[in-house]
Amino acid sequence: MKRFVVNPIHKKSKIHKEIYGHFSEHLGRCIYEGVYVGENSSIPNVNGMRCDVVNALKAMKIPVLRWPGGCFADEYHWKDGIGPKESRKKMINTHWGGVVEDNSFGTHEFMELCDQLGCEPYVNMNVGSGTVQEMSEWVEYLTFNGVSPMADLRAKNGHPDPWNVKFIGVGNENWGCGGNMTLEFYAHQYRNYATYCRSYDRKNPLFKIACGANADDYSWTEGVMKTLDGTNNGYAPLYNGLSLHYYTVPRVWRDKGPATGFPIEEYYSTLNHTLHMEELVSRHSDIMNQYDPEKKVGMIVDEWGTWYNVEPGTNPGFLYQQNSMRDAMVASVNLDIFNKHSDRVRMANIAQLANVLQSVVLTEGEKMLLTPTYYVFKMFAMHQESTLIDSFIETDEIGTDECKVPQLYESASISDDGTINLSVTNLSATDEAEVETILVETKVNQVEAEILTGPWNAFNTFENPETVKSAPFTDYTITEKGLTFKLPPCSVVALRLS
Ligand code: AHR
Repeated sequence: MKRFVVNPIHKKSKIHKEIYGHFSEHLGRCIYEGVYVGENSSIPNVNGMRCDVVNALKAMKIPVLRWPGGCFADEYHWKDGIGPKESRKKMINTHWGGVVEDNSFGTHEFMELCDQLGCEPYVNMNVGSGTVQEMSEWVEYLTFNGVSPMADLRAKNGHPDPWNVKFIGVGNENWGCGGNMTLEFYAHQYRNYATYCRSYDRKNPLFKIACGANADDYSWTEGVMKTLDGTNNGYAPLYNGLSLHYYTVPRVWRDKGPATGFPIEEYYSTLNHTLHMEELVSRHSDIMNQYDPEKKVGMIVDEWGTWYNVEPGTNPGFLYQQNSMRDAMVASVNLDIFNKHSDRVRMANIAQLANVLQSVVLTEGEKMLLTPTYYVFKMFAMHQESTLIDSFIETDEIGTDECKVPQLYESASISDDGTINLSVTNLSATDEAEVETILVETKVNQVEAEILTGPWNAFNTFENPETVKSAPFTDYTITEKGLTFKLPPCSVVALRLS
């Protein structure tokens, strides 16, 4: 029996709901087909947004959605995506498959989607191939309430009122696809671009996010923090967040390995590689602490998740991959890591929403399925807007000789109404685990619990969409000290104690 000690008296940082965020790019079948099918589609939709996907995402409590990229963001010219659809300019999506982008999903459609989802929009602007004026005008178009050229244009296009947009990304991966910039060049570009992203409502200023590091490029974090240190517009800081991107690959970049039908060694190598996130977040945080000890600047992990070889026979530029119980394990440990670092991690966005990389939904024509990753996000929604509390779990080291991982992983939080939320994952593909939860100075009266479990390589298909799904969890006993429970191999459980 492993001990899991939870101390609800020791409250730590707030777990912002945006840690449970998502990312949608004009890439493959993410936006088109995955979310947007157009008003004339035979697939049930509201203003072009497919109802099955919107309803599933709402049930999962999606809090924030990043758009339009990714690499696409630094090639996107927002004025091509407004006005009558028939006259919108077409472009080539050079990053992703060289397909024609007809711009039928643009600013108004994205804001309509966020409205239907009830989530915050996070708009990533173009630094790589855009201009300061273009970015400044997009912010004006989105948020200015009054008479101005862009507000008038918005009204002409059918939306007199401004939208409520807070999160603004100033460039994406500008060290790579976003312009191949040097650190010094980007940081100075940022100062310029961000200056003209005006917060028209000064009482509710924009939350501006600078492009951050690729995985363990610590010098990027150091350099950007140094160059932006102390910058402000007089009424607000010039930056509020710094991003971090890290993708989990089971093998190496050129041959990443398949999403299904993988050997058990790759189950463990994937988990081992994904746990590197803990070190990345810690070390980038250490650097941020030097410049921002009060932790005002948020770490924004706005791209994370698994990246495998594409499904055989699909367009290599579309990044379409299946999603198994291995991905569920990846999701749960990363969300636990973000919870535990919520003093610094302000937002995280898994890549990507639908039909691309580690998606929560997959679609095929009118069919939609929920992936194992979906269920983890739904179960972990209990942590949104709660407060992290102190916790520790005893665990064995398991895995292969090359790739070791802890068997058990966890995080704990407390909601405003006093409910204690525990997420516990058993990463072992083969062994169950017995856990004795000890709650400091707290009595358990009631338990609500849900479990996601299945063979480590199990996944849902359009023919069998419910092979893996969450279910009520009842294998627990309330004790004097807290509760005990048994976790099957490859499982994650969410417990709500009151
Ligand atoms: O998510 C796919 C791509 O990965 C994004 O467009 C880019 O930012 C990253 O390299």
